Amino acid sequence: MSNKILEIKNLSVQYTTDKIVSHAVNNIDLSIEKGEVLGLVGETGAGKTTTALAIMGLLPRYISTVTGEINFKGENLIGLNEKKYRSIRGSQISMIFQDPMTSLNPVFKVGEQIGDVIKFHNRKLHSHEIADKVDEILNLVGIPPDRKNEYPHQFSGGMKQRVMIAIAIACNPDLLIADEPTTALDVTIQAQVIKMMRALQKDLGSSVLLITHDLGIVANFCDKVAIMYAGEIVEAGTLEDIFDKSRDHHPYTVGLFGSLPNILERTDRLEPIKGLTPHPSELPEGCKFHPRCPHCMPICQAGDNPAKATSGTHVIQCHLFNKEKSL
Ligand SMILES: Nc1ncnc2c1ncn2[C@@H]1O[C@H](COP(=O)(O)OP(=O)(O)OP(=O)(O)O)[C@@H](O)[C@H]1O
Ligand code: SF4
Ligand SMILES: [Mg+2]
Repeated sequence: MSNKILEIKNLSVQYTTDKIVSHAVNNIDLSIEKGEVLGLVGETGAGKTTTALAIMGLLPRYISTVTGEINFKGENLIGLNEKKYRSIRGSQISMIFQDPMTSLNPVFKVGEQIGDVIKFHNRKLHSHEIADKVDEILNLVGIPPDRKNEYPHQFSGGMKQRVMIAIAIACNPDLLIADEPTTALDVTIQAQVIKMMRALQKDLGSSVLLITHDLGIVANFCDKVAIMYAGEIVEAGTLEDIFDKSRDHHPYTVGLFGSLPNILERTDRLEPIKGLTPHPSELPEGCKFHPRCPHCMPICQAGDNPAKATSGTHVIQCHLFNKEKSL
């Protein structure tokens, strides 16, 4: 039997606003096995949050069109009715959002907010059982349970994010989606939260989709990595496939790594990738990265996307590594 918790096939999402069609996600494939952590990495506007919202069934209904397949434990979620989705969200798939304050309700005590999620998905539990579970989960995320009667504003940024994580894991989901879970936090707190998430993930055996632009977090937390550019996955593989500099890489991945200070090698200055991500309503023809690519060839500037070249677990979508001249 397949161990795949999530298998996305050929997923595309378009937003239509004021007659402008934005191709935010274009024909992506992704899969996550049980207990695995997949990092989804890319610059702003790449389509990462859109992918997460598509999995959660939370895309704005009237302006978005979704095609392809999002198979969760073998069932395609696309087109599922809201009632069914509500029974999956929170209990089987849950999401940690970037900014804890937009997701926590300021007028309810944190313990109540965690308890509500447990109650919603376990209607038969008695109130004392829910209270015990709230204490247990607060302990798990490193918050003293006696702080459950406090309000979100009484917590620091890092603690609020821990509360968000507590809410997300309250029902022990099979899949946890974390969308830039530490971006709003300062660097030392980021490290603590990531360390805690990794320990929790190991304990609970959940699968995680971790969205980030921070390659350091990916290196510390993920088993597999998918690099997203202009709505496409341009390179994917295991952590070794992506982080081993001696292997072949998509020019965008090379640019991403080049634009970061390397902790092992001393760098005097950063080299950001030239140019900007194209707007999804005006994607270039051919390879979407060609206007920024230092290796751009005539074949890259028109026609279809480059074919995907595959070597074991490693996939690159680029004409430098086509099927004939594989990796
Ligand atoms: N509700 C919406 N209506 C119209 N366009 C949208 C909407 N939400 C996102 N988009 C567009 O879709 C594209 C992808 O956005 P998305 O939020 O998925 O990117 P992202 O990779 O999460 O970026 P970031 O790193 O900044 O969070 C962007 O160009 C964005 O402007
Ligand atoms: S297909 Fe061409 S333009 Fe695109 S990344 Fe590869 S070499 Fe660069
Ligand atoms: Mg985002």
